[in-house]
Amino acid sequence: MSDQSEWVQRPASALKGTNCTAEQYEKMYASSLQDSDAFWAKQAERIDWFQKPSKIANWSFDPVDIKWFEDGTLNICHNAVDRHVEAGNGDRTAIIFEPDSPDGEVRTFSYADVQREVIRMANTLKKLGVAKGDRVTIYMPMVPEGAFAMLACARIGAIHSVIFGGFSPDAIAGRVDDCESDWIVTADEGLRGSKTIPLKANVDSALEKVSAKGVLVLRHTGGDVSMTDGRDHWYHELSAEVSDECLCEPMNAEDPLFILYTSGSTGKPKGVLHTTGGYAVWTETTFRYIFDYRDGEVFWCTADIGWVTGHSYIVYGPLQNGATALMFEGVPNYPDHDRFWQVCAKHKVNIFYTAPTAIRALMREGDHHVEKHDLSSLRLLGSVGEPINPEAWRWYHETVGKERIPIIDTWWQTETGGCMITTLPAAHDMKPGSAGKPFFGVQPQLVDNEGAELEGAASGNLCITHSWPGQARTVYGDHERFIQTYFSTYPGKYFTGDGCRRDEDGYYWITGRVDDVINVSGHRMGTAEVESALVLHPKVSEAAVVGFPHDIKGQGIYCYVTLMDGVEESDELSAELRQWVRKEIGPIATPDHLHFTPALPKTRSGKIMRRILRKIGENEFGSLGDTSTLADPGVVDALIEGRKNR
Ligand code: WTA
Repeated sequence: MSDQSEWVQRPASALKGTNCTAEQYEKMYASSLQDSDAFWAKQAERIDWFQKPSKIANWSFDPVDIKWFEDGTLNICHNAVDRHVEAGNGDRTAIIFEPDSPDGEVRTFSYADVQREVIRMANTLKKLGVAKGDRVTIYMPMVPEGAFAMLACARIGAIHSVIFGGFSPDAIAGRVDDCESDWIVTADEGLRGSKTIPLKANVDSALEKVSAKGVLVLRHTGGDVSMTDGRDHWYHELSAEVSDECLCEPMNAEDPLFILYTSGSTGKPKGVLHTTGGYAVWTETTFRYIFDYRDGEVFWCTADIGWVTGHSYIVYGPLQNGATALMFEGVPNYPDHDRFWQVCAKHKVNIFYTAPTAIRALMREGDHHVEKHDLSSLRLLGSVGEPINPEAWRWYHETVGKERIPIIDTWWQTETGGCMITTLPAAHDMKPGSAGKPFFGVQPQLVDNEGAELEGAASGNLCITHSWPGQARTVYGDHERFIQTYFSTYPGKYFTGDGCRRDEDGYYWITGRVDDVINVSGHRMGTAEVESALVLHPKVSEAAVVGFPHDIKGQGIYCYVTLMDGVEESDELSAELRQWVRKEIGPIATPDHLHFTPALPKTRSGKIMRRILRKIGENEFGSLGDTSTLADPGVVDALIEGRKNR
């Protein structure tokens, strides 16, 4: 029997008007496994295809070749925008924009407005020379024009690669170079709380290292920027005389839709590639069932469009469903810690979707920030990006949700395109800290380190054994890396990189990454990336980076650094190195701890024993395991001393 005290019942209100009850879930989940093709053919009927697919799934994980709806043609921009206008819903609100400052101007776009704006952007991109199949880098603040740029690319068949506005010039250069993107869409500056982000200046610095044929610049703050003749164009100028017609390019279901760079255990970030048809069906279906969207509701996902959550649940999921999506430019704590709740009350938000790191940070500031506002419009709360600790879950449920609304804890990844494991609001009771049950078509499997399947209640490495429509198809330009990263550890299975426990009720509990990826405030980061940034510094000889538990961020960044001969450690150097990493990658990669050490623990063959460094970073000195294979076991004692002193 399961532990009854774990359960939180779904409130009766969640059942009203819902599109999926417990019985329906069981039936649909079973049919999604038994006759996957029939199930997805039916879901795909919600998409407006130019040419309906006759083939549904055609995939193999060994060799790796994934196709869905392969003879169908469609355009996802048509599905997200034009279709609603053509159906007579052009007046419906598509996007509500809430600016950084509460005194700023709220902008509201109907579906007809979005259609007009996207056409304008699409024709401007064409004028610049962008053609089907070209890669367009989008480095934008959280403003509607960012979404318009994505949709405009989709409309003309260009492949967008959105880069989070917090990334540094070097990170931009690397990504532009990797996918050979000739075009960049950016803005003069972005706003985040009291800070301005020099987006155009960052692009300029990036373009000292790589080249671009054209840069389109949105005037947003009006800040001063330099424009390079022949390369840089103001959006408002170039778009002034474009035509107001632009047909949606018919795309094959397997034509690329976007590239999104994400961190892995090794090497540079990978350009995860999603294609059109499967991603359209997956985001449409997951949004509809998981958020249980009802006409007229306001849906707010607080992610940035620079992350996959923004792609799938600010832009493609909500808009394909004809929903009203709120886009927020600011941050949770500006001008005060009640900003999220103030925005919820102001726009009568019904569904609110955020990350545990934000919940923890706001929880710490006290309940009065929440209680000041009328949150009675809220009907559903969601969490994404990292494991949510039960304490934060309960606060979210009790203080924000007043115990009257369900919480969905959605587990998924950039590579999965959309949510994979979550309770459905009306179908499942909840367990704080557990994501819940697999979504339709998702077949999770837990395996031990040798790859043997673990049945029933068990803990292991989380794999998925059957393809799903939203699955990433490859790593852009490097299919071998795609295979190596996801399909070689456990051949024939997609390996997620996450550890997971399944309990006796079949609920999944994600325990975090089992590889060298860390999750800092919901931002995914490869420890190898931070290490490479550190060793680029002339005074650094070696670096090893691990995650450690952090109250607010979930995980913090712990860096062990050995210095070049003759370099003295100092607080100034520590500050300099932190600044260095910020410059190389971006502020999200700022080290929390820099631990100077004369040596790193290595095996006799010279391999750094990361397991030991992780334990020391976590303050777990009692469970270091076997240290006898170390070349110099004395190193460990010195490291423990150093850890205790901070
Ligand atoms: C983690 C974000 C626990 C996980 C959508 C995964 C989660 C990584 C959850 C992907 C959750 C995401 N519970 N862990 N609800 N959601 N994760 O690619 O480790 O930025 O592998 O996608 O975040 O991060 P990514």
